[in-house]
Amino acid sequence: MLPERKEAEALLAEAERCNPGPWGNHSRVAAVCGEKIAARCPGMDPEKAYVLGLLHDIGRKFGVKHLGHVYDGWHYMLELGYDKAARICLTHSFAVQDLEDYVGKKDIPEEAQEELRMALAKVVYDDYDRLIQLCDSISGPEGPVDMEERMADVKRRYGRYPQEKWEKHLELKRYFEEKTGRDLYEIVGKTMLRGSLHKVIKKEEGGHDKMSEVLQAIAKRSSTRGYTQEKLTKEELDTLIQAGLQAPTAANRQEIHITVVEGDNPILAELETDKNQGRGLADLPHNFYYEAPVVLFLSGDASFYWSKLDAGIAAENIALAAEGLGLGSLIIGCVKDALYGEKKDYYAKALKFPEGYEYEIAVALGRKAVTKEPHDYSAEKNVTYL
Ligand SMILES: Cc1cc2nc3c(=O)[nH]c(=O)nc-3n(C[C@H](O)[C@H](O)[C@H](O)COP(=O)(O)O)c2cc1C
Repeated sequence: MLPERKEAEALLAEAERCNPGPWGNHSRVAAVCGEKIAARCPGMDPEKAYVLGLLHDIGRKFGVKHLGHVYDGWHYMLELGYDKAARICLTHSFAVQDLEDYVGKKDIPEEAQEELRMALAKVVYDDYDRLIQLCDSISGPEGPVDMEERMADVKRRYGRYPQEKWEKHLELKRYFEEKTGRDLYEIVGKTMLRGSLHKVIKKEEGGHDKMSEVLQAIAKRSSTRGYTQEKLTKEELDTLIQAGLQAPTAANRQEIHITVVEGDNPILAELETDKNQGRGLADLPHNFYYEAPVVLFLSGDASFYWSKLDAGIAAENIALAAEGLGLGSLIIGCVKDALYGEKKDYYAKALKFPEGYEYEIAVALGRKAVTKEPHDYSAEKNVTYL
């Protein structure tokens, strides 16, 4: 037995009132994903998938629990006579059919664990069990999310995520992609932003998804704060400058100017001193460009509304080109106060900014002496789909 859609929605709403939290919307997202995927799988019932998605976490009604929510949901649904939903409450966390694989606290007594263990072992998984396991792993409270991103997040929060479980989820993705003949994220309405691109790159290194060189550079770039003293070749420097000049500009004004400054130019030391003085800082172990062999200063027409944006775009073009050449880069804003202070005109002259131009941004460039992982980000937090 399974409740109708309306009743399932009412059950979820009531459960949310008892224990409010993002889990309610996570369940709704899982329901919609389940419905969409099932609609493309011959022989599957989208309505059933929707209801099962909606109720898989219903045990959270009874408080903030880990394994407890599996136990509570299973019993709650059995008490209401909804055995099919009860089964999903039981199986949704176990892509690997083993209670020991649970990531999170086993916050129920040993007898209850044994009860779950035995019940779980008896189930022969069908496509609805698999589908909701999959949907659980791609559903954030605001919409579908990247599966690997979500698993990585669980790993960060709980300190572990069994490899077998990770692989099982990827297998589930492949399973339903084969069944539907479509890319999973296409079906659930998420065509881009599959979490950190560098994770996709890692997959590629394992022989999976092909990525363009541009996407690889975007995914791999991170700020370099440590350089060797080896100079850039003329060809490298020209390529970087061209990348900056090839950036789009508002109304194609092409107003961004680039001043190339060698790392040992005394103007940089002077700027370092002024920056530190302005900020009340003593000498730092590194200067602001981390001893890079070259720093590009991008200046823009002070009277043009879009100069700052244009300079930002050019700076990122340069940074990506550097990554493409296997070089390091650091976008630098921290000298702004010094460059806009009482010595503004002096610096504009010393850095040979064109008349009426002012500093927008700088980019340090060189060979990496240190490496850093690209930063993590949250598409859930930073993206809204209308
Ligand atoms: C406009 C702008 C100004 C920045 N200024 C500095 C800076 O003055 N010094 C610095 O070490 N990093 C600076 N950064 C680098 C950021 O700290 C860095 O991009 C951010 O921490 C993310 O790390 P990632 O670049 O490694 O992905 C700046 C970045 C931008 C976009």
